[in-house]
Amino acid sequence: MGLPLPVREIAKREKLTPVYVEKILVNLRKAGLVKSLRGVHGGYVMALSPKDISVAAVLSALGQVDLGRDLCSRFTGNSNACVHNGDCSLRPVWGLLTRYIYGFLQQISVEQLLKGEAGVVADIHLLGAKPPDMIGTERSHFMSAPFFEIKDLHVSVEGKKILHGLNLTVGAGEIHAIMGPNGSGKSTLSYAVLGHPRYIVESGDILLQGESLLSLKPNERAVKGLFLGFQYPVAVPGVSIVNFLRTAMKNRRGQDISLKDFRKELKENMKVLKMDAAFANRYLNEGFSGGEKKRLEILQMALLHPVMAILDETDSGLDIDALRIVSDGINRLAAPTRGILLITHYQRLLDYVKPQFVHVLSEGKIVRSGGPELALELESKGYEWLTGPVSAAGGNVVAS
Ligand SMILES: Nc1ncnc2c1ncn2[C@@H]1O[C@H](COP(=O)(O)OP(=O)(O)OP(=O)(O)O)[C@@H](O)[C@H]1O
Ligand SMILES: [Mg+2]
Repeated sequence: MGLPLPVREIAKREKLTPVYVEKILVNLRKAGLVKSLRGVHGGYVMALSPKDISVAAVLSALGQVDLGRDLCSRFTGNSNACVHNGDCSLRPVWGLLTRYIYGFLQQISVEQLLKGEAGVVADIHLLGAKPPDMIGTERSHFMSAPFFEIKDLHVSVEGKKILHGLNLTVGAGEIHAIMGPNGSGKSTLSYAVLGHPRYIVESGDILLQGESLLSLKPNERAVKGLFLGFQYPVAVPGVSIVNFLRTAMKNRRGQDISLKDFRKELKENMKVLKMDAAFANRYLNEGFSGGEKKRLEILQMALLHPVMAILDETDSGLDIDALRIVSDGINRLAAPTRGILLITHYQRLLDYVKPQFVHVLSEGKIVRSGGPELALELESKGYEWLTGPVSAAGGNVVAS
């Protein structure tokens, strides 16, 4: 890993200003690519070997893989054109391109790039020669380890088996939606992924970037970048939003954040979600309306920079304007380095936040997967054609 290099030394070698180098290093450290060591001989060292760091990881740490913005500004001549809303016809194109190129860059290590290995050059030629129909159809084609993977997951709650062998893979940059009848196990899945102690994983595995989460406590999973937006966020009287968020951010980022920086980031994100600044001083969810609670969930997501976010019915309880604002907030958080899983009952959310994949969960299993058209089909046909008759209390009458 080499000796720690102080910022000044790196700046000198690279012929850059120390302020600029510091900015880059802060981003690389947040992404876990470099570490800073304190003390007289302190400085920065690589956190991983260059052969284990992909070019994509470096670019995304530096915030350089936002092809969408580039593409939109090129088409429209307006650098602020990428509004990420549901009407944008360029969005599917950039989504496809970003995933394709990002997937390719994931295959090249920093070591290969520095050495200029012949293989990399050949692959770049190949990239140009790929037939268009390959693009996007094999979403995991270029990825080494799946980004987020649930393998044959069996979960029980209070002795009752709820999930019966659930499989799901979410690639980097992908948005998936899970729909399904009441009581089919959607929230159980999200709790199990988060590591809620009442939700017992009987067998199977949950992996984030190739690493199993099962042995980790919920707070450790959150530090790794897992985020759950709760269906029913709980009130915590006595804990102010400001204190809660700042503590959560410190833990997630592994370093203190100055009050000034925190306030700035908080203010910016509250503005996006059209939340009144006075909100921040209230106790967590205490006396919040349904819609306010859901906005707070998205505010948390925005500040915690998750790797994989699961949003459990974030659209429920939102009025029409709030749905648009929250959806816009989610769209802004969609990124090539992030996976998003939306749990929802309604197409109306998916009109704003466009998933590439839709799954139907019934009786603890995924019974159908498809593209966005599947959600429309469910809206018009209901679930019975996939699951058998559904009882009035939710849950299926006929078990297969
Ligand atoms: N803590 C618990 N104790 C007992 N049963 C539970 C518990 N949590 C979940 N269940 C049961 O597990 C089943 C699945 O519940 P879950 O909340 O996962 O469904 P869901 O798909 O999220 O439903 P909805 O669409 O209504 O939110 C239900 O029958 C529920 O009663
Ligand atoms: Mg639920």
